[in-house]
Amino acid sequence: MIIKTPITDIRTDMKKTLTFFAVLATTLTATAQIKVAVHETAQDQPVIPAEIYGQFSEHLGKCIYEGIWVGKDSPIPNVDGYRTDVLEAFKALKIPVLRWPGGCFADEYHWMDGIGPQENRKKLVNNNWGSTVEDNSFGTHEFLNLCEMLGIEPYISGNVGSGTVEEMAKWVEYMNSDTNSTMAELRRKNGREKPWNVKYFGVGNESWGCGGNMKIEYYTNLYRRYNTYARNYGENRLFRIASGANGGDTHWMDVAMKECRHNMDGISVHFYAVRDWGTEDDPITGIPMGKKGSALQYNDQQYYEIVSKSLEIEDIIRKHCAVMDKYDPKKNVAIMFDEWGTWYNVEPGTNPGWLYQQNTMRDAVIAASSLDIFHKYTDRVKMANIAQVVNVLQSMILTNEKNPEDGCVLTPTYYVFKMYKAHKEGKFVPGELTCEKIRVNDKEQVPVVSQSASVKEGVLSISLSNLDVAKSHVVAVNLDGKKCGAVKNAEVLTSKDVHAHNDFGTPNAVSTQAFKDYKVKKDGTMTVTIPAHSVVTLSLQL
Ligand code: AHR
Repeated sequence: MIIKTPITDIRTDMKKTLTFFAVLATTLTATAQIKVAVHETAQDQPVIPAEIYGQFSEHLGKCIYEGIWVGKDSPIPNVDGYRTDVLEAFKALKIPVLRWPGGCFADEYHWMDGIGPQENRKKLVNNNWGSTVEDNSFGTHEFLNLCEMLGIEPYISGNVGSGTVEEMAKWVEYMNSDTNSTMAELRRKNGREKPWNVKYFGVGNESWGCGGNMKIEYYTNLYRRYNTYARNYGENRLFRIASGANGGDTHWMDVAMKECRHNMDGISVHFYAVRDWGTEDDPITGIPMGKKGSALQYNDQQYYEIVSKSLEIEDIIRKHCAVMDKYDPKKNVAIMFDEWGTWYNVEPGTNPGWLYQQNTMRDAVIAASSLDIFHKYTDRVKMANIAQVVNVLQSMILTNEKNPEDGCVLTPTYYVFKMYKAHKEGKFVPGELTCEKIRVNDKEQVPVVSQSASVKEGVLSISLSNLDVAKSHVVAVNLDGKKCGAVKNAEVLTSKDVHAHNDFGTPNAVSTQAFKDYKVKKDGTMTVTIPAHSVVTLSLQL
């Protein structure tokens, strides 16, 4: 029994503390002893915000068009133009927040071209992503109505890079004003009487890159200016989000906090797990292909390289938190991790500008361990949006690129998000983990286990991911002073072959299964055997 985690029982007595012990030991086949220590010192742990499980939808490849929106006249079954199969998958996921319209696209998007009768809307060339011609049939109304229909909180990214202050100001007025102003009347003329009361509003995206290639010293002035005219209307208060750092760029964070902390509620951070961005260009389109490797074909070394890269997110959060604490010890400004996930070379034969990639158990364990990291920092990290929800990068859902009428498949990452609903708005149970690490190279090591625990309505949920590509491991769980209660629910996501994935023709190759490989012992402790490359979630009655 090596690990110890006191958890607060929030059901009856806030002062009562449980201690959650977990010990991880190797199986007989493992070559080293593994120990996991989980340990809590404070009782006042934050509640995990639902927004940690946020999604991102950009006008990129087949995310919006064909992925979400097919139009009312499409032969693909749809509800008012939104494809029915994708809507159903969104509903089951209970998406808390959805970011739109970009990404890089946001800083070239002119919202007025996407309102009014669809047949009159101006076409646009999506310069960022494959020069696709879009008909603007999915605009402000289509996005906000989708969110409203599904109970999703919308998060709009405004255009600072190529848009004017006036354009942004009018957009906010159009969406949120209930007065007789010109923009509110225009919205009414376009069929929407009441404002949508959008809360989350981003002032630019990646302003250091595709959003204008600015220096932070310049962007902070622009932020203050644009933000001034993005007004609050009625009772609604905008949650104002500044464009944040590229990965661990703490200079960006430092200047942003120094100059804008009183004008913003949150600041974004972006980080992608990429092996090597590279410099090679696609011979046809000229788009950089990089050496990111394949989503489907990788050896063990390449598996660990990406897993290791993804775990850098914790170091990045820590560094930004240290800078923010200097200016904002009361943590009034939130980190919005509004782009994260894996990024590989596109699937062969697909448009390199559309970022269409497959998704295996490697992505699933990366999703789980990244969420485990976010859970630890929710005193500062209030939102995270994986990139992206349909057909782009580490997506939840894939539609058939070649034959869009062929339904959709749910990726292993989708199933992780579904399993992690157990932690949504639960009280975080902190932990320390000591376990065997696998050496990736001279500098990097991957711990074989990642874990999260939370308490909600008298139920303790524990997630354990096995990042070991080859071996199962045994985790011993001990609730200090209390016996493990009945297991209410236990699920596992795994596959014999780590490369297994869901595809058209084999849509259920990877999906959650009931999990039985745990034993509650007489002394109230528990052992859980987690298969290689797997994610397990157990919910116990306290
Ligand atoms: O998610 C794909 C792109 O990655 C986004 O458009 C951009 O913000 C980031 O560089």
